Amino acid sequence: MTEFGIRASFLDFIDDPWRHVGRESEAARFHADGLLVVEDGRIIDFGAHDEVAARHAGLAVTTISDRLVLPGFIDGHVHFPQTRVIGAFGEHLLPWLEKWVFPEEIKFSDRAYAREAAGRFFDSLVASGTTTCQAFTTTASAATEELFDEAARRNMRLIAGLTGIDRLAPDGYSLSAENFYRDSKRLIERYHRQGRGLYAITPRNAHVCTPDTMAAAERLKREHPDCWVNTHLAETTGECEDMRELYPDSADYVAVYEKYGLVGPKFSGGHGVWLSDDEFDRLSAGGGAITFCPCSNLFLGSGLFRLGRATDPAHRVRLSFGSDVGGGNRLSMLNVLDEAYKVGMMNNGMLDDPAEAERNKLSAYRGFWSITLGGAEGLYIDDLVGNFAPGKEADFVVLDCNGGPQALRWRQSLIAQNGTPATLEQAADLLFGLMVAGDDRAIEQTWAMGRQVYLRPGST
Ligand code: GUN
Ligand code: ZN
Repeated sequence: MTEFGIRASFLDFIDDPWRHVGRESEAARFHADGLLVVEDGRIIDFGAHDEVAARHAGLAVTTISDRLVLPGFIDGHVHFPQTRVIGAFGEHLLPWLEKWVFPEEIKFSDRAYAREAAGRFFDSLVASGTTTCQAFTTTASAATEELFDEAARRNMRLIAGLTGIDRLAPDGYSLSAENFYRDSKRLIERYHRQGRGLYAITPRNAHVCTPDTMAAAERLKREHPDCWVNTHLAETTGECEDMRELYPDSADYVAVYEKYGLVGPKFSGGHGVWLSDDEFDRLSAGGGAITFCPCSNLFLGSGLFRLGRATDPAHRVRLSFGSDVGGGNRLSMLNVLDEAYKVGMMNNGMLDDPAEAERNKLSAYRGFWSITLGGAEGLYIDDLVGNFAPGKEADFVVLDCNGGPQALRWRQSLIAQNGTPATLEQAADLLFGLMVAGDDRAIEQTWAMGRQVYLRPGST
């Protein structure tokens, strides 16, 4: 049994800030002088230092000064085999897939290449403060195995699965429906709920899957109802138009996933840019989630996600936020929040519904909830991670609120001297500075399951 404490300033969330319009701070908790007690990788106590310390005589405590500690960030949609093609110039989705993505993903049938890539992927994630991700792999079992094995070596929480695709893919990459079923089944048996691994049945999307592969996904979900389902949904207008021809008996994009029994708890559809009001309502009623990927939607020119519609309290849809690397050009969830904020502001330039416009505004409360507890709720893993509630896994990130571009420190000094917040309001103002004017240099330390997995170069 290993038990230790971290004494620091902490901020986490206990509720959805969109439920507290005008009083968002009620959804957050802040301890200027807090204590987090960890035993065997899990949080066993948390709160104001003096109160918690009184319950743990003799506890070995590490003090972290002048920093702000948050739960580890959650990336709800990322492509591990696209880490190397971040920032490919000038293409929309389909030509970008053809020109950059498939030639790179094909390489992942080489196990040694996949292993190196998995190491680089997790190195990059933890340097961005991300401790949990839901990831796409490729059609190669070797790539999927290497990803799960690397996550297990690092004790990182991971949701992932073999990618199903049998349309629009080059020779040598496509996977038949039978092989998608057979290989997925073997991988589920090997990795689902092993350590911190969770398996997602992953038809890449209904646009690049034939009805046979969709039926294989349906069968897998029926036989393994505890598994997650991860896919893409209504990302571009062109894709949505094609869907009418490909699935003529389905009224819209969500209806295709409904037809194959995939929409429900633990379902994530990446993007959802072009969903109708009715599709939002059905996702809300069915418990399916959308992953908002603003970096990607802007970088590939896919469109502007209607965040204020998705968060309508009358039809609230569960959300996680994702980098969608390499469609997204950054792995950092801070950058994801930056772009999400701008998507909301752009939408508001074209909207005359004041309530929806208000919900489009991504405050620091809404943003950081979305990449911690909100993301966990979107992925149905909030019993495991997302805040500092006792019983959860001790994943956290140590933020240097002055870490970033040269101009940031002076900006932050407007809020609090030396970037250390004394109040919740100050913490939120500093975090907003990080999300819109900061970058990865704010990540000083990342911890997964009670163990430090990243320390910023030059820090001690
Ligand atoms: N749709 C199908 N495959 C992909 C992918 O790799 N990235 C994105 N952004 N959309 C997709
Ligand atoms: Zn994607």
